[in-house]
Amino acid sequence: MIPSTSHLIPPHGGKLVNLVAEPERIHELKAHSCEWPSWDLTGRQVCDLELLMTGGFSPLTGFMNQGDYESVCQKMRLESGVLWPMPITLDVKEEFAKTLKPGSSKIALRDPEGVMLAVLHVEDVWQPDREDEAQAVFGSTSAAHPGVDYVLNKSYPWYVGGRIEGTQAPSHYDFRALRLTPAELRSEFSRLGWRRVVAFQTRNPMHRAHVELTFRAAKQVEANLLIHPSVGMTKPGDVDYFTRVRCYQLLLSKFPQGTVKLSLLPLAMRMGGPREAIWHALIRKNHGATHFIVGRDHAGPGKDTNGKPFYGPYEAQELFKKHEADIGVTMVPFNMMVYLEDQGYYVPDSEVPNGSRVLNISGTELRERLNEGRDIPGWFTYPEVVQELRRSFPPRHKQGLTIFFTGLSGSGKSTIANVLMTKFLEMGGRPVTILDGDLVRKHLSSELGFSKEHRDINIRRIGYVASEITKNGGIAICAPIAPYDTLRKQVRSMVAPVGGFILVHVATPIETCEQRDRKGLYAKARAGIIKEFTGISDPYEEPKDAEVAINTTDLTPEEAAQEILLHLEREGFIGVNGDHA
Ligand code: PPS
Repeated sequence: MIPSTSHLIPPHGGKLVNLVAEPERIHELKAHSCEWPSWDLTGRQVCDLELLMTGGFSPLTGFMNQGDYESVCQKMRLESGVLWPMPITLDVKEEFAKTLKPGSSKIALRDPEGVMLAVLHVEDVWQPDREDEAQAVFGSTSAAHPGVDYVLNKSYPWYVGGRIEGTQAPSHYDFRALRLTPAELRSEFSRLGWRRVVAFQTRNPMHRAHVELTFRAAKQVEANLLIHPSVGMTKPGDVDYFTRVRCYQLLLSKFPQGTVKLSLLPLAMRMGGPREAIWHALIRKNHGATHFIVGRDHAGPGKDTNGKPFYGPYEAQELFKKHEADIGVTMVPFNMMVYLEDQGYYVPDSEVPNGSRVLNISGTELRERLNEGRDIPGWFTYPEVVQELRRSFPPRHKQGLTIFFTGLSGSGKSTIANVLMTKFLEMGGRPVTILDGDLVRKHLSSELGFSKEHRDINIRRIGYVASEITKNGGIAICAPIAPYDTLRKQVRSMVAPVGGFILVHVATPIETCEQRDRKGLYAKARAGIIKEFTGISDPYEEPKDAEVAINTTDLTPEEAAQEILLHLEREGFIGVNGDHA
């Protein structure tokens, strides 16, 4: 028997929405789906759809139409007057939008594998002013704000609104026992007799300060605790959620038995600070929470290009307070927790006694300590969490790494790359792969020529392979000409999130390269036999962001390789004997 959930907090808008159709209707929709256009959902859209379908976004019953969208942007309310701070829209390409007829079209919404997850009954199709949206929702049009950047640069320019009929929930094969829908969590709370539940939102690993904060919050309002991390999309550069969830699981034993529940929320965050705090609380209300913790800089997007924070540290708490009655969830505000060194415990920074020494470690500092294999003190986090973090973020000398050479033909890239490879093999510890210009053109890019378009494809392929090698802990030594700055930067952004990236400019002047002319190519280029030859009849953009620059005119290959090795050693990419901390 499903326990009654009537004594729980009512969902936002009064009723828990469930957009998943009945089996017979699903059968019917699937049978007709071949008649409708398909839209392949983006990562964010899949997250939004899942929360729409399960009622996490109650009272929404589909992607917003223009009326609700404008009202939400301007007034933070749906047209019905119900408080709702965040636009939930389906953005599509212009060509696709132009094929739709509001009022009659239906769209099969599909996941990246092509599985139909839902049908959208098209009610509205319009081209929004995305700058206005960014300004209204996030208070900024700066692309340094990840939410703004998404609206302005990553989303498609047309929006489609309409009712949803769900045919299948997005599939997740990870942590299945922890992915409770609003209805499942509510029924669990009911079964456990939890009437007061304080929810904690997080996109970071939890340490002692967070355990202390959540424990205090639960005691303060005499509620049980729901640890409800967002595992959809968070801020670029965040710790991956697999690692985070393993850490959260390790922490459950730090709370009194039976007082805490961990559940994962497939939310695509917008990093919208104050508005986002309200949105987070409404989503938790739908999951059965009566209270919500709002800390310092809730869902903060960081700083703008002038180094100024987009929102004040307690702006989210202020906006929440203003709308608390409409939200229907009680805010549990918290200041930042800091460690009192002399007393040996945590307090909110507002309660620090005069003259006390406080300790804190920021996320950036933690990353540096992990990278360098330095100590992470016990007052900051638990040994089992440190161990888990070290597994995912080994010190630099155990991480994968790409050494990306760029330079003219004949500048010495391949020779130095080969010397470097033998040095790495001599050290041992990490597998090494050479992606030399000529070798890549033979094995990966044999159909490509030397137009800008083809060179770009070639470099992207090298970048992709290098990033895979790096991700898996190996060393990729790439040695193409890579004449274009944009493409080199693209490769950097592919590799840097998964390991080290070192750009080496082999800056041998063209006169020297031409004089050497080891392959006789310069002579052919001068004679016009080879067209589009880099440095002669095709451009080479000198890098300004190279970690190492080498002019081989007066250096032996061995000396050049040493320059690179010294740089790697200084940056911690090579340990003692290649392996020790
Ligand atoms: S790129 O621009 O990065 O895609 O070039 P890459 O893959 O490194 O290929 C460069 C090698 O191809 C030979 N080659 C040419 N290079 C430049 N321009 C033209 N038109 C050209 N045609 C053939 C040349 O041998 C390059 O090898 P390296 O090792 O650089 O001398």
